[in-house]
Amino acid sequence: MKKTFILLAGTAISLMLSVPAFATEYRIAVGDGAGGTQEALGKAFVAALEKESGGAMTGKLFLNGQLGDEQDTITAAATGTLDFSILAINNITPFSPSVGTLTLPYVILSQDDAEKVTQGEVGQKMVDQTVEDAGVRIIGWGYSGFRVLTNSKKPVSTVADLQGLVVRVPKNEIMIETYKAWGINPTPMAWGETFAALQQKVVDGQDNPYMTVNAMKFYEVQKYITDLRYIFSIEPLVISESLFESLSEEQQQQVLAAGRDATKASGVFLREQESKIRDELVARGMEITKPADDEKEFIDLATSKVWPKFYDQIGGVEVLNGVLTSLGRDTV
Ligand code: MLT
Repeated sequence: MKKTFILLAGTAISLMLSVPAFATEYRIAVGDGAGGTQEALGKAFVAALEKESGGAMTGKLFLNGQLGDEQDTITAAATGTLDFSILAINNITPFSPSVGTLTLPYVILSQDDAEKVTQGEVGQKMVDQTVEDAGVRIIGWGYSGFRVLTNSKKPVSTVADLQGLVVRVPKNEIMIETYKAWGINPTPMAWGETFAALQQKVVDGQDNPYMTVNAMKFYEVQKYITDLRYIFSIEPLVISESLFESLSEEQQQQVLAAGRDATKASGVFLREQESKIRDELVARGMEITKPADDEKEFIDLATSKVWPKFYDQIGGVEVLNGVLTSLGRDTV
C-alpha cells in the first residue's frame, strides 16, 4: 500500500514538473469556416503541439478570416503581429512566386501528387524560399481537393458555356490568366468578400474545392458545379518566421513535428470526407456537371497559354520541370 502511494505520488510530481502551469497560447488565423480542411488541419496541429510540448504550447483557431483576410495574414505574420495562419496556397503566391508552381493549372493531378510534392524535396525548397521571400515558414500542408467551378446561372461543361459568366478569382495572377485563356475576364477579389459578392450577385461564380464550398455555405448562393480539376488546392499552415526564430531549438523541433503530424492527418481527412461532402452538396440541391471531352479544351488552353507566361516568375522553367520530374511526368 505504502509502496503504491509512493509510486503514485512520484508519477504525479513528475507530471506536474513536465506540464507547466501556464501554457503559451498562439493565435492561429484560419481563412475558412468550420468543417473544412483548414479547420481540420488546425485542430490536428493544436493537439499535436500540446502533445509534443507536454502542454507548454497550444493554439487557438480563429475561423472565417476573423484575424484578417488570407493575404493580409501573411503580412501580419511576417511583421510578427500574428503567430500562425492557415490559408490557401494561391494566397501565398503573391508574396513568394515560387510556390506558384503548385497553382499552375493541371500540374498537380491527384491527392497523391499533392502529397508527394509537398512532403518531398520540392516542398522543402518551397519552405526555404517562402521564408526568404515572405517572412513566414510553412510547417504543415493541408489538402483540400480540386477547385471546382460554381455558379448561380447555368450548367457549364465547355469553354463556350463559360462565356458571359462573371467569375471571382483570388488576387492571383496565375488564376486570372487561366480564366483569360478560357476567354473571360475574371474578377479578382479578396476571399473575405466572396460570399457577400455571390449573395449580392456582384459575381456569378467562383472556384474552390468541395470541402470549401461546404465550409463556406456557398450552397446557399450557388446552384451549379463544374467538376474542373485545374488546381488541386493545397492549404499551408505557416508560422511567423520571427516567432519561429525566437523559439528554443527544442521548441522549434516540437512545432515542426506537430506540423508533420497535422499534414498526415489532413491527407486522411480529405480521403475520408470529400465524397461525403460532395454528396451532401448534391442533397442540398447543387447540380454537378462534368467538363466535356474529359476537360481537354480547358487543359489545352490553360497549359499552352498560361504555363509559359509564368516561367520567369516561378524561378525558371527548371522549377516547373523539377516538380514534373518528381511526379514522374514529362518535362517541358
Ligand atoms: C481563395 O479562393 O481565396 C481561397 O482558396 C480560399 C480558401 O482559403 O479556401
